[in-house]
Amino acid sequence: MQKIFHAAFIVAAVFSLSQSAQAQKVDFEKQVWPIIEAKCVECHREPYEENGRLKKPKGGLRLDGAWAIMMGGEGGATVDPGKSDHSELFARVTLPEDDDDFMPPTGKADPLTDKEKELLAKWIDEGADFGGWAGNLKGKPAEVSNAGGKIPVSEIQELYKKLSEGVSPLKEDAWKDITASGGRVMPLSNSSPLLSVDYRLTAEDATDDKFAAIKAISDHVAHLDLSRTQVTDATMSDVSKMDRLVRLDLHQTAISDEGLSHLKGLKNLRYINLYGTQVSDAGLNQLKSMKSLRAVYLWNSNATPKGAKALRAALPDAKINID
Ligand code: HEC
Repeated sequence: MQKIFHAAFIVAAVFSLSQSAQAQKVDFEKQVWPIIEAKCVECHREPYEENGRLKKPKGGLRLDGAWAIMMGGEGGATVDPGKSDHSELFARVTLPEDDDDFMPPTGKADPLTDKEKELLAKWIDEGADFGGWAGNLKGKPAEVSNAGGKIPVSEIQELYKKLSEGVSPLKEDAWKDITASGGRVMPLSNSSPLLSVDYRLTAEDATDDKFAAIKAISDHVAHLDLSRTQVTDATMSDVSKMDRLVRLDLHQTAISDEGLSHLKGLKNLRYINLYGTQVSDAGLNQLKSMKSLRAVYLWNSNATPKGAKALRAALPDAKINID
């Protein structure tokens, strides 16, 4: 009896070894979903009511279904299959923990362990395959597929598509001056001519003179992240020429009402983060005509709840976040 048990054990062990050697691909449902479920879904799930108030997913991003993960949030797609280094979902969990964009927000849930980060990166690099997992289908737009590695088209992706029409992709050479001045430039996705520019790694030293280099690629910039840099209102007149700008992050900078007065002409701007700036209600008045806006972040600025309410009335499609 003992022997038989022993032999069966060895067979099972050898079998599972060879199985793991073959199937090394990350299994989303078994290995990645439990991480997301434990550390992210609390804030990134289907809208629900609490004490009579409708709670919406943070950042417009749901992570409780395959279609939702691929569709992304207010900032657009968060996963670029095959490229973890281009995926916001991965970038957010690997930032320094004191960065305001770090996920999960510090103190709200445990940060990902190194092992978990590795699994997430590997899953994205292997093509972001959900296997048979679809997750929560409630709220899924009809035209969007359940999963299947195909990126569903959301309103924001339609916008990127429209903005890309007739725009030729640039070669890396076109932004070497930005890289030299401490900026990072990345295409929004593999096939997109649109670019994302940030100074996250050099924010402390990034002053207005460093941003002058962006002018050379102004008409390709869709995302601009100047958060925590030394940027001043002076740079906003350059920003105002970025016709394809969809997302502008100015959080924790010296930007004031005066800077916002330059931005009115940005017809495609959907997201602006002004958290921790000196912007006041007078600055919010400048935003009232910007009908493309869908998300405005004002926490820790000089704006008041009254100002936020007035902006909400002027921009009913936008989420105005002040607390
Ligand atoms: C306690 C609430 C909370 C938890 C938990 C949380 N987030 Fe967030 N998340 C937010 C808030 C608030 C925002 C919007 C502000 C911002 O963009 O930083 C956000 C925004 C995001 C965005 C950007 C969405 C967009 O399109 O603008 C990503 C990506 C994201 N979170 C990923 C994650 C991941 C991955 C986890 C789990 C590891 C996670 N979050 C856990 C609160 C949370």
